[in-house]
Amino acid sequence: MKFGYFDDVNKEYVINSPKTPYPWINYLGNQGFFSLISNTAGGYCFYKDARLRRITRYRYNNVPLDMGGRYFYINDNGNVWNPGWSPVKADLDSYECRHGMGYTIITGSKDSLKAEVTFFVPQNYDGEVQQVVLTNEGSSKKDFSIFSMAEWCLWDAQDDCTNFQRNFSTGRVEIEGSTIYHVTEYRDRRNHYAFYTVNDDIDGYDTDRDAFLGGIYNGWDAPATVKEGKPTNSFADGWSPIASHYKKVSLAPGESKTLIYILGYAENPQDKKFASEKPAGLLTRETWVLNKEKAYAMIDKYNTPEKVAAGLEELRNEWAKLLGIFNVNTPDDKVNRMVNIWNQYQCMVTFNLSRSASYFESGIGRGMGFRDSNQDILGFVHQIPDRARDRLIDLASTQLPDGGCYHQYQPLTKKGNSDIGGDFSDDPLWMILSVAAYIKETGDWTILDEMVPYDNDMSTAQTMLEHLKVSFYHIVNNLGPHGLPLAMRADWNDCINLSCWSDTPGESFQTYTNPKFKAEGGYSKIAESVMVAALFTYTGPSYVGILKHLGKDDEAAAAQAEIDKMKKNIMESAWDGDWFLRAYDSNGEKMGSKDCKEGQIFIEPQGFAIMSDIDKDAAKKTLASIDSRLNTEYGLVLNNPAFTKYYVQYGEISTYPGGYKENAGIFTHNNAWIICAAAYAGEGDQAFKYYSEIAPAFTEETSDLHKTEPYVYGQMIAGKDASNFGQGKNSWLTGTAAWNMVAISQYILGIMPDFDGLKIDPSIPHEWDGFKATRKFRGADYNITINNPDHVCKGVKKLTVDGKEIEGCVVPFESGKKVYDVVVTLG
Ligand code: BGC
Ligand code: NOJ
Repeated sequence: MKFGYFDDVNKEYVINSPKTPYPWINYLGNQGFFSLISNTAGGYCFYKDARLRRITRYRYNNVPLDMGGRYFYINDNGNVWNPGWSPVKADLDSYECRHGMGYTIITGSKDSLKAEVTFFVPQNYDGEVQQVVLTNEGSSKKDFSIFSMAEWCLWDAQDDCTNFQRNFSTGRVEIEGSTIYHVTEYRDRRNHYAFYTVNDDIDGYDTDRDAFLGGIYNGWDAPATVKEGKPTNSFADGWSPIASHYKKVSLAPGESKTLIYILGYAENPQDKKFASEKPAGLLTRETWVLNKEKAYAMIDKYNTPEKVAAGLEELRNEWAKLLGIFNVNTPDDKVNRMVNIWNQYQCMVTFNLSRSASYFESGIGRGMGFRDSNQDILGFVHQIPDRARDRLIDLASTQLPDGGCYHQYQPLTKKGNSDIGGDFSDDPLWMILSVAAYIKETGDWTILDEMVPYDNDMSTAQTMLEHLKVSFYHIVNNLGPHGLPLAMRADWNDCINLSCWSDTPGESFQTYTNPKFKAEGGYSKIAESVMVAALFTYTGPSYVGILKHLGKDDEAAAAQAEIDKMKKNIMESAWDGDWFLRAYDSNGEKMGSKDCKEGQIFIEPQGFAIMSDIDKDAAKKTLASIDSRLNTEYGLVLNNPAFTKYYVQYGEISTYPGGYKENAGIFTHNNAWIICAAAYAGEGDQAFKYYSEIAPAFTEETSDLHKTEPYVYGQMIAGKDASNFGQGKNSWLTGTAAWNMVAISQYILGIMPDFDGLKIDPSIPHEWDGFKATRKFRGADYNITINNPDHVCKGVKKLTVDGKEIEGCVVPFESGKKVYDVVVTLG
């Protein structure tokens, strides 16, 4: 069952029922100001950091689920309704929500009155513009009123939802004309404020939540002021400041009225915080006056429908440009839709926000993850390489001199987070992969000369190349008894914690240090990760490639020798006969072996091992085992059989019921590694099967089961052992976005940036006749045609550039050349 449809021409998902199985959200904003908006206008806004600079309040895990947002209420002669249906939930005559690229349009109508609300954050603008168009579609005059509503968060989202003894007494506002200012804590130690305005005179307002709602027993579904059609003109002092405008509207038949609301954020320099005079008409209880110049300028920027239209146009053009970089035309519309629109769009969102703020990530828990953000770059780098470059330098600046890494950093301060610390065994390797991806995309080798500090201490700075070296040798220098990398606190799988041995509730599996391992530096020197071993042999060649390009042949040979040694160790100690082991635990016992009772096979090491060309026969057997042991109609489960008991020596993984999260859930992120590996091994049909099991556009038909948005990936789908098999969770912020973009574009469609040029080596479903693609690459346009007359999955029989045949499948990059016409014949 579906709850909407894809409008590919407008690049929108159109939701036609407000009662989606979960709130289906969109993200507005790309730079500093961000909003989350659901299909019923729920959600919240923040500036840069969802924890430290939260602008509007949201109550998580609420009942009903999605309560809190920016709401417009209409009172049409006693009939009260919202254009987005919620929170009043009055039956509407029509409802539609269009989630587009950086904007959302929600339209509702009732009793011949239509309200269309367009929400967007313009380019380079720290505010959300909300344009409301009210139209009388009936044959008689209509007199009604409209109330807006935004609830302020008291800046620090963590404090806001916990420290009520203080924060109930801090709220402050100012009101000037149609603008309500949120100036809580501004006088003292903050230099930022927020405002909510409308481009017309108002007939009243409320700034105190209880006054607006009519006491503490009413919810957002029944504000007394709206019901009575009369605001109280309340002035908030402490308690819970909100912003609500009240406006009476009269419309002749066929007539429309447009109102533009702006929810904005601004910062003042320390010496310009206050205005020298109190303007006439300003409502305040303070002895000081906010300097509002920035707000005035922001309001002026979007105070007419023409200016709003221009802002929207600018946003659309920006997205057209971003999505114009890589475009495909395959025989499968759903693939086109994912590649050309939604997968790339999701990659931008994950790049911007890492794992911090979604309907599953509260924004107060996690900053930017080191491994997460490095992987996000893989899917994003072609869109805005300059931003990727800056991000790489921010990330590397949190690295430690021995190559270890802070696992996370705070976006506002860019400092490594010492609460969570380091010693996640996989972290350094992702940086080699992401820096290599950046160079392969751009050809910009200068990034390697950039001086980058360790732990943000500029006195320790070394070149980026040196950072790659310490990353590589951090693995080599931390091997266990089988010559495989130590597992440390966790590897990519945060829930395999082989040194933790926790039996006390509340201990963090990732940061708790078992006294047993304290003397050894915090983690076992026995437990080893096969996943990191395989990631090392997969990533290492990129490092070697970089060294060779720089003419550092000795260093390249030394690194290659380490890779070869690791491959040998993997085959000797980590091959289980039909697949690769997952780990050795701190007792030296195998994990992920046919000899184990539960958790016999794990997904994570398999794909990287296959793509490392360790052993052809092993690769073949592994792909067959994956298909028979891990595959389901909704994707590949992480491990099998699921754990049914608590294995203290494994850590968090077995705390989940079978089928959820890392315990045999369908963890879509690592499905992509198998898709890549199957394609790499020439199994285009198998790769495409796994791709289409989880790609959102393909699961749209089962939205009622899948529940989360049909236009973006979620982190997890409940696996076959769960009673909710097939149900999605944790949508939007997941490495799945970047890795599936890599899987479909670079491995299946086979268009892969390489150091020397664009490599073209597809691995597609055999029934495809071929496909076409356009790709901007290092400033040139590539027009690519793939023909598949023999209906094979893989194999470049002939490749021509501008009609001339070339050897191999890398189209060499020639500087100055602007257009490449590439024709590939498979066979
Ligand atoms: C989750 C992981 C997550 C980790 C760190 C665990 O509880 O299962 O998916 O990465 O916490 O936040
Ligand atoms: C989610 C985390 O963000 C990611 O870093 C981790 O690799 C996966 N969970 C798997 O545990």
